[in-house]
This record gives sequence, C-alpha cells and structure tokens, in this order.
Amino acid sequence: MEKMPYQPGAEVPMSRDRIASIATDWQRALPVLAAGRVVLRELRADDAPSLCALLTTEEVSRFISPPPTTVEGFERFIAWTHRQRAAGAYACYAVTLRGRDTAIGIFQIRRLDATFELAEWGFAIGSTFWGTGLFRESARLMLDFAFDVIGVRRLEARAALPNGRGNGALRKIGAVQECVLRRSFARAGVRFDQALYAIVDVDRAAAQARRPAFTRVH
Ligand SMILES: CC(C)(COP(=O)(O)OP(=O)(O)OC[C@H]1O[C@@H](n2cnc3c(N)ncnc32)[C@H](O)[C@@H]1OP(=O)(O)O)[C@@H](O)C(=O)NCCC(=O)NCCS
Repeated sequence: MEKMPYQPGAEVPMSRDRIASIATDWQRALPVLAAGRVVLRELRADDAPSLCALLTTEEVSRFISPPPTTVEGFERFIAWTHRQRAAGAYACYAVTLRGRDTAIGIFQIRRLDATFELAEWGFAIGSTFWGTGLFRESARLMLDFAFDVIGVRRLEARAALPNGRGNGALRKIGAVQECVLRRSFARAGVRFDQALYAIVDVDRAAAQARRPAFTRVH
C-alpha cells in the first residue's frame, strides 16, 4: 500500500478524476475502499491465521470451492492473489472492520474475458458476522470497484441452490437470477445445481441514480 497508504480520517470522495487514475493503478496495488463500518484492503500474508480460522468452518465453506485447510495454505493463496492481481486477471480484498485490521472475510473478482468487461465475483465472511449488514456494505464497495475502477460491464455470480444465505445475499444487492446451471458445482462428492446471477452496468447506473455516492478511497 505504499502508493495509496491507508490514513484513517483522511478519506476523500471518489471523484471521476481519481477513478481514472486508480483505474490504471489497481494492478500495482489495490486501492483501499472504506465506507460505514468496513474497510476493504488488499490481503496480506499475516491475514492467513484469521482467514484460516473463519473461512474453513463447515457452515462457511460447504457451498464454495474448498478453501485452503492450513495457515500455510492461506499464505500460498494470498501470494497467488498478488500475482493474479499484478497480471490484471483477478483481485481479492480482505474485509476488515474500521479501526480493527483483522481480516474477517474476502471478496474476489476474476475476469471472464480479455478486457475484464465480463467478470465473476465471490465472497465469504466469517459466520460471526453474518446478518450484521457488513456484507451489504462490503458488496457496495466491491461493486463500485468492479464497475468504476476495473471497468466491468457485466458481473456474474454463481450460488448453489441450497445455499440460502448466498442466494439471499445476492438478491438483496440487486443481482438478477438469469438461469439455473444444472449440476454445475461439485463439493465433497455431491453435485449441486447453481443459480447464475448477474449485475449489469445499465441496471447499476439506474440504481445508482437513486442513491448517493458511497465509496471512499485513500
Ligand atoms: C454469502 C455471505 C457473505 C452473505 O453474508 P450474510 O451476512 O450472511 O448476508 P446477509 O445476512 O446480509 O444476507 C443474506 C440474506 O439471505 C437471507 N436468507 C438467509 N437464509 C436464507 C434461506 N435459506 N433462503 C433464502 N434467503 C435466506 C437472509 O434473511 C438475508 O436477507 P435479509 O437481510 O433481507 O433478511 C455469507 O453468508 C457467507 O460468507 N456465506 C458462506 C460463503 C458463501 O456461501 N458465499 C457465497 C457464495 S454465492
């Protein structure tokens, strides 16, 4: 974070000029995003212990691709996220609470085409923090990053049909279910149908016109 160091209390609204400069910089280091109670920042190697403790529980991991199972595995994953970000293919944010720097979850986004206009995202938060509104606050920041900084035009998400919270979370932030991908996800030897959701730029622009600007960057 040497380029855009996090300075609590020194937040500025995200202007169009800043978006333009950050859009070209995110591959070097992810900008810190903050609003309300949450701060999203790039993962660091020392996030591995908290992520390992929070994201490997059965209730968090049962409907997502298997996370690493050890702290060392998370350290390797975090190093991989940095390489993928530098390549411009992917970004992964740690969710933290304002004033506390511990990672309590992650938001990932990966490109599905060469331009990154088509992308997919995914997220997981420690179950202690479910139902607290932190997901929605983090998701808004992530959507601003995806559409305004990366330049995504269509953002897809997949959720296994029995994953009630995952489907409910996507719906409440305006993702539209487009179809069901039958038996498209395997976990622990079980095949699940997945709902395919999308948020597209034109719909988001209409929704944004109904709410005030939200994102802060440092
Ligand atoms: C997905 C996740 C980040 C969402 O965070 P969260 O704090 O649980 O989400 P929220 O509570 O804000 O929203 C979930 C919504 O689903 C609703 N919901 C819960 N169980 C449900 C069910 N069985 N069926 C339908 N909706 C359900 C909740 O009521 C809530 O809606 P509300 O706020 O309008 O009441 C979190 O649950 C998580 O990390 N899950 C494990 C990983 C995962 O599944 N990731 C998503 C893959 S698509």
